[in-house]
Parts: sequence; C-alpha cells; structure tokens
Amino acid sequence: MCGIIALIGSRDAGPIILEGLRRLEYRGYDSAGLAAIDIDTSGAGKLTCLKAAGRLVNLTKKYDELGAPGFCAIGHTRWATHGKPEERNAHPHLDGSAQVAVVQNGIIENCQALKEPLERDGVVFTSDTDTEVIPHHISQQIKYLQDEGEPVSSRLLLKAVQRVLPLIQGTYALAIIWEAVPKALVVASKQAPLLIGLGSGEFLCASDTPAFADFTDTILPLKDGEVALLTPLGVELYNEFGVEQQRNPVLLTNVEQKVDKGHFRHFMLKEIYEQAEIAALWVGKHLAKARIDSKYLQSDSLISLSLDDEVFEGIERIQILACGTSRHASLIGAYLLEQFAGIPTSVFYASEFRYAPPPLLSNTLTIAVTQSGETADTLAALQMEQKRLEARADPLCNSCQLGITNRPDSSLTRQVSHLLYISAGIEIGVAATKTFLGQLLTFYGLTLAFAERRNSCSKSELRALVTELQELPYYLRKLIKEHDELCANLAENFDDVRGVVFLGRGINYPIALEGALKLKEISYIQAEGYPAGEMKHGPIALLDPEVPVVSIAVPGRVFSKVISNCQEAKARDAKVIGITPIGPETKLFDMLLPIPEVSEWLSPLLTVIPMQLLSYHIACHRGLDVDQPRNLAKSVTVE
Ligand code: F6R
Repeated sequence: MCGIIALIGSRDAGPIILEGLRRLEYRGYDSAGLAAIDIDTSGAGKLTCLKAAGRLVNLTKKYDELGAPGFCAIGHTRWATHGKPEERNAHPHLDGSAQVAVVQNGIIENCQALKEPLERDGVVFTSDTDTEVIPHHISQQIKYLQDEGEPVSSRLLLKAVQRVLPLIQGTYALAIIWEAVPKALVVASKQAPLLIGLGSGEFLCASDTPAFADFTDTILPLKDGEVALLTPLGVELYNEFGVEQQRNPVLLTNVEQKVDKGHFRHFMLKEIYEQAEIAALWVGKHLAKARIDSKYLQSDSLISLSLDDEVFEGIERIQILACGTSRHASLIGAYLLEQFAGIPTSVFYASEFRYAPPPLLSNTLTIAVTQSGETADTLAALQMEQKRLEARADPLCNSCQLGITNRPDSSLTRQVSHLLYISAGIEIGVAATKTFLGQLLTFYGLTLAFAERRNSCSKSELRALVTELQELPYYLRKLIKEHDELCANLAENFDDVRGVVFLGRGINYPIALEGALKLKEISYIQAEGYPAGEMKHGPIALLDPEVPVVSIAVPGRVFSKVISNCQEAKARDAKVIGITPIGPETKLFDMLLPIPEVSEWLSPLLTVIPMQLLSYHIACHRGLDVDQPRNLAKSVTVE
C-alpha cells in the first residue's frame, strides 16, 4: 500500500503533488508528506520537507501555511507497516544532513541488517520505519563516490542509488531527490507498481494511474528491478544490471478517475447505488444476443464474452487466486462453475497459495481475481504459478491464465494474456461493493460461456438463468432504494451488540462471509460468517440476546434446513434478522430485510445488497469514517 508520487518539470510542483496524493489517498491515509527542492538565484538547491499525521487534509493545511516551493518534488500517502501512524514515521525520510529525501512503497525486509552498520557509524534514526535506512545509505554512497572523484551531478545520484538497491531485500517503489542536484529525480521499483507519466517538458511518476488524470495519458510502467533518472530533459531507464533500456511508452486506456460523491453522503453509498446501472450495462453488453422471447434460443450464444478459445478448450479444472472480498466473489464463481458448467474449481487465498500451492496439473485454468489489479499476494501467487509452468520440461498443455479486474491499466493487466474487465468504474470507498457485484457478474458470464460450450446443463436451465439476469437491473434498483431506508432504521438495533453472526448456505454462504467482512471493516464490530449447518458445531455457543444472527434464507434446495438453523438460534434467545422473500416462514424472524423471490442461482446478486447497506448504516450510526475505515487501504501492495 502507500501511494508515492514525484514530479520534475518547470511548474511549482507542490499543488500537483497534493492533487496526485488526493487521488492516491485510497492507498493509505495514516499520514502524508512531501519534499520539494527550490533553486535560488545562484542555482543552489534548498530542500523543504513537510509531513503530517492523519488524513491528507492535515498536510494540505501545513502546505498552505508554510509552502514548499520547487519544480522537483516527491510525495507520499502512508499505510503504516513499520512504525505507528505518527508524524515522525511519515515519509519523506531524510538522511542525517537533510539533503536526500526518499518516499517508499513496499517493505524493506532486511531493514534491521541495513541499520546496524549505519548505527555503528553514528547515524541517528529519527523514525521507526523500514524506509529510513535508504536515505542514509544513499547519502553514504554519495560521499564514497565523491571521495572517488565523482563530480556532483544527477549521474552521481543515480550511481549512488544503483549501489544501494542491490543491498535491499523485499519489495519497493522509490522516489529520491537530493538537494545538491535540484533538477534530478531518481525512481526505482521492485515488485511494487511505479509508472512514469510523460508530459511535455515534465514527468510525473506515481504508484497508480489516477494520479495522471489531467496530466498525461502516455505512460512508461517500470519493469521489475528497473531504475530511472528523470530530468527536465528526459528519462534514462536502466535494468537491475545497469544496462540502459529503450522501449516505447503506452497509452492509458482509461484515465476516467472522476472522483465525485455527487449528492451522496459517502462514496460507499454512491457505489452501492451504482450497482443497478453496472448490472444494466453488463446485461446490455453481454446478454444482448440472448433473445429468449421464444421457446427456442434465437442465437448461437447466450453470452458475448471476448475471450480466446484457448481459455475454454481442453480445460479440465479451474483454480482461482484472490484475497478478501474478491475471494468471496470467487467462491460464488466456483459454485456456479461447478454446478452449472461442471468444471471442478478450487478457490485459494492467494497469500496461502503462493507458499503452499497444490501439485501442478495439466489443463488447468488459473484465474486471478483482484479489483485493483495491484494486490501483492494475488500478483505474486499468479507469478509463482507462471514460473512453475515455465519450469516444466514438458510444457503442460492447455494451462493458461486469466485475470479478472476493474483496472485495465493495472499490474495484473501487464501480467496476464487473457483479461476480463469488470467495468464497474473506479471505486473509492475502501469497502468493496460495486466491484464485488462486477466480479460476480463476470463469473456469471464465464459460467454461461463454459456451460454453453460444454453442454453441461440443459438449454432451459441456461435460459432461465439468462432471463433472471436480464431482470437484475430492475430488481437491484428497487431493492437498493427500499433497503437503504430499512437498514437505516434497523441500524439503531445494533448499538449494544457484542458481535454478529452471519449465516448462509450453498451459493449464499460466501454472502454470509462478505456480510461479516463488510461489518467488521467499517463498523469495527466482531462478526463471523458461517455456513448455517456448521453453527451447531461450535459457533452456537456465541449466541445470546446481545449477539444477533443475520440469516440468508433463499427458497431452494437448502431452504428448510436454513429455517431450522434459524429456529436453533432463536431457541438461544438470539435476535434473528432474515434476508428472505416474504412468505409463511417470515414470521419466524425478529426483523426482516425482504428480497424478491428469485432462483437461488441469481440470489447472491440480491442478498448482498442488504449486507452492504446494513454495514453502511451501522457504521454511519456509530459516527465512523465509512469511506476510509481505520487501518485499511484500498490497494494492498505489500505482502
Ligand atoms: C473488502 C476489501 C478487501 C479487498 C482485498 C483484495 O471490502 O475491499 O478485502 O477485497 O484487499 O483486493 P483486490 O480485489 O484489489 O485484490
């Protein structure tokens, strides 16, 4: 996590750095800082560094009061890894003479080993971060190079950085400036995203594409291990062995990033409401060919999915790698792919898979699911799988990889050859909502595509699912509006709860997990999601009047079982909130969040709405920062 940004050109850099940080704040908001180098009339540089704990607004206030002039600057928005979220741990970090300034995104795993020799040389550290070792080591290398007769120049800074990078173990994206060379900026990256934006006579370097909005759509993403020297005259790019690299920049496909809450109180609420429109666009784009108005299918395909045949042909199994909410969407995807398309599918926590993968098998489709396209664990797990395949003497036939993401210009996009883009529009609220729905829809599309090709279920079953999907935008529009009000009223009942248990079964079990995750992350209430049938094997001991149960009860193959599980909860005096269609069983529930009567196949796309709105209103009722909950960041780029 953390967002870094750097600018070199001929404009006052401060306002551009602050605006870029605003667009990157989703990556962390524990503190923010910037450093800029001004040039006096004699040509000498003067470095100013400003930092503030907490949200970016605190840094902006400081900047307005104190200023930090200069045409060359670096900035940082922090998600704390090493050291508390205090001002002294905010980036940029400086060397002892306050001439070298560094911002970093990543984790320096051997920071202790790098610190010890410096401390022996009398260096005093002023923060608890892993990053601070870097400016001190660069400063030391600058001295050594000068002692070796190297004149002060931007090249000297580059050389010093190139000497330090091999010492670092871990992952990093770095931007470095040195007061003695006010017209130079050095950036480097190792397994952490960093892109150089090419403007006219100026260069902006940042962790993610939103920072480039209003600046440029021409970018040069740094490859693993690369380092670049940026001056107002151009960019020099080197690989990890110091060999100069030449390659063409690429055009950003999507510099959308309009960050606007509209009339909504929070981004999260706006994004929940946007789901009906996302579904409408998806149906229009992918199911338009499916004319189901007669008894027979009118077209060859029910779904238009732009994927090469390679993804479909000969695939015998699927493995999905994801984290958090994306993993919950993947669990529903796996359910659909197994039950509808008949393909054995496993879902892995990416963070576990990368260290304990299952044996490599042929004819396997690996799907990496990440809305941001930047999650370090997911990217590393996928890369590990790619390397395992390459290392095989006999190339495994038909094993290929597919990425599912909301960010067409992300690191994932550059890592896979097949991509499904969920087109949900940028999501600002840290709690994923509309991207979850987008991921689910993508899995519905993939399932239909596989099921059609494999004839794994009857045409009438497929047609029934398509018909329901075509109705989805209508259902969502109505449901979101109704439940917004219902959940706002219900939220008051959660003032004194000690915890909440979410129950679901079958295809709705992952929705119970998602409901619990949403509540935890934005309202800080302990919550657990369980398959309803599992409750009696332990979690039932938690239940009492202060631990309510939210039960997803959708008519289908396990409906009566779920109703029995609710009875068991009621018998322990727990209040039971039902997410269920109105029917004879409704009276069982103490509170009701009614959903339309749809098939259980479609139901997760609806049952998730009350989960999102309930968490949202409980957090609002508690006066919490819904869009930027504590300790979290939107893009998790560290392991
Ligand atoms: C929860 C949430 C996280 C993310 C997880 C993976 O609301 O947003 O659990 O789902 O960090 O992120 P992506 O999908 O970007 O890989």
